[in-house]
Amino acid sequence: MQPSSTSRSTLAIAFLATGFLLAGTSAQAPQAPQSGAEKLSASPRTFPAPTNLQVLPKNLSGQQVHDIMEQWAYSLGVRCDSCHTEDLDGVSPDGRPRLKFADDSKPMKKNARIMYTMTDKINADYVAKVDGSGLPVTCGTCHRGEISPDPFTMQRPAQPPAAQAPTAGKEGPQLR
Ligand code: HEC
Ligand code: HEC
Repeated sequence: MQPSSTSRSTLAIAFLATGFLLAGTSAQAPQAPQSGAEKLSASPRTFPAPTNLQVLPKNLSGQQVHDIMEQWAYSLGVRCDSCHTEDLDGVSPDGRPRLKFADDSKPMKKNARIMYTMTDKINADYVAKVDGSGLPVTCGTCHRGEISPDPFTMQRPAQPPAAQAPTAGKEGPQLR
């Protein structure tokens, strides 16, 4: 990562992760006494600091990486193990195989790096330059919960929408 691109990447991360960071913050707020089951699910989890970030800013904490990863998984409709290799030697307490998050052998992890770089560039080099643009492009903008989003199929309206009615003498909707 070039030092010069750090700040704009951090900005993109802020966009990409805002919802989850906010959710995390409220979960840590002091809470009234709860039943046993609720207490268990609210017990704090810690995430180790990342060791192999190549496209995300290297100074992200383990918690920040985790929040971004959850967002990627939901945006694409896949689980962590689609991109991360199983550790055949270890099983987590919940009985599922542990994942070797720093390992780079799955092709989908490499594709996700390319996709992240593309998304960051779209925002920094294009969306940010449109006057009054508010919403950044995220993984979900295109993927909509699907790893292979269906192509958009145009439904040509029988009648042109009123606001775009063609000028007299021309036929059919005008595509601009
Ligand atoms: C679409 C692919 C994809 C999915 C799904 C995904 N990850 Fe990742 N993950 C990546 C990529 C790519 C990186 C490396 C980012 C980089 O190079 O900056 C990464 C990095 C990580 C790291 C940091 C590893 C290190 O030490 O450098 C952790 C931890 C992690 N992911 C956890 C998760 C968890 C937990 C989930 C499920 C909630 C998940 N990931 C889902 C692609 C994915
Ligand atoms: C501008 C639209 C767009 C954005 C934004 C976008 N993607 Fe994609 N992505 C695509 C398209 C199109 C494909 C190809 C789908 C196919 O092959 O069916 C794709 C493919 C992928 C694949 C490859 C799937 C495979 O089979 O290996 C991964 C992984 C992926 N995207 C992850 C991401 C992640 C993570 C983000 C956000 C950081 C992201 N994408 C943002 C459009 C986008």
